Amino acid sequence: MAYIIDGKSIAEQIRLEVKSNTEVLISERGIKPGLAVLLVGENAASQVYVRSKEKACLEAGFHSIVLRMPDTVSENEVLNIISTWNNDNAIHGILVQLPLPKHINEMKALLAISPQKDVDGFHPENVGRLVIGLPGFVPCTPAGIVELFKRSKIDLAGKHVVVIGRSNIVGKPIANLLYQKKPYANAVVTICHTGTGDIRKFTKQADVLIAAIGVAHRIGADDVKDGVVVIDVGMNRIADLSTKSGTRLVGDVDYDSVMPKASAITPVPKGVGPMTIAMLLENTYRSAAGEVF
Ligand code: GUN
Repeated sequence: MAYIIDGKSIAEQIRLEVKSNTEVLISERGIKPGLAVLLVGENAASQVYVRSKEKACLEAGFHSIVLRMPDTVSENEVLNIISTWNNDNAIHGILVQLPLPKHINEMKALLAISPQKDVDGFHPENVGRLVIGLPGFVPCTPAGIVELFKRSKIDLAGKHVVVIGRSNIVGKPIANLLYQKKPYANAVVTICHTGTGDIRKFTKQADVLIAAIGVAHRIGADDVKDGVVVIDVGMNRIADLSTKSGTRLVGDVDYDSVMPKASAITPVPKGVGPMTIAMLLENTYRSAAGEVF
């Protein structure tokens, strides 16, 4: 039976720590962490995420700005908003919720954010810093996964970590973090993706499996070896008529069949998900406190 990695309570703990550090930052240095979020359009999932981010900021005692724009907004207007925030001393973190509508070049928007305020860690300067092991902003979901390992005392040194998924938001940054010569990293990392073919050949060798695929229940008991540590980044909504909404959130891992074989596993929900917002607060706090660069 696996140890259940309780992301919900670890995230709550981090949020309390950020809140208490924020009280000190305000009282001793007169700095109130500020996060500005830009949401363009009507994407339902993005709206839920942004509302949660706003609520979390207010609970932590932050200054919070959320700007919601219709999807008719021009690329230039988006760049102008980012530029205004870059020059606003009350704002220490800027987040442009993705995806953006097709007529706005996503990379252009990310490049416009000052790397010093890029709390999502998506600016190529921060991506480069992460790869070569320099200080910088680390994307929130991968940072949250590392925090789960730290707080669960799971040391990855010399372990074989198999990451499934090569997105810029999760797969690439977590892989690059975990092979660094640092505590709670120093692992041997394999990245699998849509070009891999026989994914099971690799997942069966994993001491630690990180699933960031986006396909419900893609990983089953036959895909893993005994004693594997499983981090499930999937958030897939499937039909379930036994619930009030008629749907249910499940991971990329078939929890019920994999859990008995694993030594540790994150559930969905209440696993990796809550860590993303906790690390966004942490990144914004550290930006305000001048602890990142
Ligand atoms: N869309 C999905 N995940 C994220 C995230 O972590 N940050 C931003 N900005 N957009 C997202």
